[in-house]
Amino acid sequence: MHRPSKVALITGAAKRVGRAIALQLAHEGFDIAFTYLSSQGEAQSLLTEITTQGRRAHAIRADLAQPEIATEEIHRAVTVEFGQLDVLVNNASLYLQADLQSTTSAIIHRLNAIHVESPLLLCQRFEPMLRAARGHVINMVDLLAERPWPQFLPYCASKAALANLTLGLARALAPEVTVNGIAPGVVEWPPDYPQGEREKYLKRVPLGRTGTPQDVASLIKFLVTEGSYITGQILRLDGGRSIT
Ligand SMILES: NC(=O)c1ccc[n+]([C@@H]2O[C@H](COP(=O)([O-])OP(=O)(O)OC[C@H]3O[C@@H](n4cnc5c(N)ncnc54)[C@H](OP(=O)(O)O)[C@@H]3O)[C@@H](O)[C@H]2O)c1
Repeated sequence: MHRPSKVALITGAAKRVGRAIALQLAHEGFDIAFTYLSSQGEAQSLLTEITTQGRRAHAIRADLAQPEIATEEIHRAVTVEFGQLDVLVNNASLYLQADLQSTTSAIIHRLNAIHVESPLLLCQRFEPMLRAARGHVINMVDLLAERPWPQFLPYCASKAALANLTLGLARALAPEVTVNGIAPGVVEWPPDYPQGEREKYLKRVPLGRTGTPQDVASLIKFLVTEGSYITGQILRLDGGRSIT
């Protein structure tokens, strides 16, 4: 009997870590819906790369700083294009530097909209599809959620809220859906990150290297293919950074 494809939705997937996740899940046989905001060229090339692998792919331009409008649009697009959802990866992020003095209300709202409100509203919108599919939600958290940097105060606080939300959603969506978070250390440097800072960081990583986008993609592959009894966990993916 023909078994329909599974469908994964990854937010902010045109580049970097999200792109690796999308390509890995396509390789596993998932059809892929993904969102992007400004990276239109990269989104187009990702569409081509996935469809060349023989999977279906659909790109949705969405600004997750406008959570209600964005989630409505994403839900409509996935419903029309695929009519089902098996995996949701809340990956989109804004790594915005702001310390105690430079933080504004607008910055706090923007970061919470992207890192907390949108993942919550997407889970709310897709709840019926995710339950029907006995699906999986992965939230991309950050090691900084538990080890906050004062130069990134509202970023860290919003990721900490996402970590807490992950636990709440795991309870809310049980028993049909698993919900887990991944808390990376560095898996891809921000562009222009100073060389001296990179070396300082690496000295405190027992495994002696940064992670890679592929490390994230491999863990997500495991969670969505083998992880049916894992829920409500925040998995540190940091080469041991958190134990030094
Ligand atoms: N890289 C690391 O070492 C690291 C470390 C710890 C945690 N993480 C987490 O892992 C995830 C992936 O990391 P990354 O470095 O690949 O992320 P990233 O490059 O900082 O961001 C991923 C994408 O988020 C999208 N985005 C930003 N603002 C948006 C908005 N308002 N609406 C919709 N999309 C928006 C961007 O899309 P466009 O380019 O299309 O505008 C961007 O390409 C993130 O959640 C990040 O916080 C990463």
